[in-house]
Amino acid sequence: MVKLTFLGHACFLIDDGTYKLIVDPFLDGNPAAAVRPEDVKADYVFVTHGHGDHLGDAVSIAKRNNAVICTTVDLGDSALADCGAKVETGNMGGSLRYPFGRVKFFQAIHGSGAPGTLSCGFIFDIGGKRIYHAGDTALMMDMQLLKDEKLDAALLPIGDVYTMDPHDALRAAEMICAGLTVPMHYNTFPHICQDADAFVKSLGEKGLKGAVLKPGESLEL
Ligand code: NI
Ligand code: MN
Repeated sequence: MVKLTFLGHACFLIDDGTYKLIVDPFLDGNPAAAVRPEDVKADYVFVTHGHGDHLGDAVSIAKRNNAVICTTVDLGDSALADCGAKVETGNMGGSLRYPFGRVKFFQAIHGSGAPGTLSCGFIFDIGGKRIYHAGDTALMMDMQLLKDEKLDAALLPIGDVYTMDPHDALRAAEMICAGLTVPMHYNTFPHICQDADAFVKSLGEKGLKGAVLKPGESLEL
């Protein structure tokens, strides 16, 4: 059993009962944050890219928990080079193995917030489940590759402006065919407001299962 908790914006906590993974921990200054960064317990901190709404509180959370920050090589070597936390890195198409399982770096089409670095998504293998966190991305044909990954869950941005909108996210979900699709990266700020319930309804009309998590809510995979 893997517990997936939405903490607001693009931040999720993934917990297999032994290890806690937090992804894109933007909490301080996030009007939708479900927890304060100082209250987060995590063993690993994953960062998809260097924009403030993803890198967020990664360093302070990692230091406080003696946790590892896991991100792309270039972000690790630039923005996080002297951060004082333990940083481990990989690059697109590659994987890192950890006591909880494995994480694979998947491409994303998006700026990264730090010159010379790429944005990524992550595919987590944990507790017998496979979870894709898309990071910030546009719709891309590469998502067709994910169908063969037999994902249990796909966390997809729907906010528009910086990422896919609900229409493109629906097309992404159709390519990916995850067991469950969960929208993220919306309603944090007025200009990325979207109707997540309508998005999940549209998934259902395509024969796909979706779930809206309010900040602080969890589900079990
Ligand atoms: Ni971004
Ligand atoms: Mn973002």
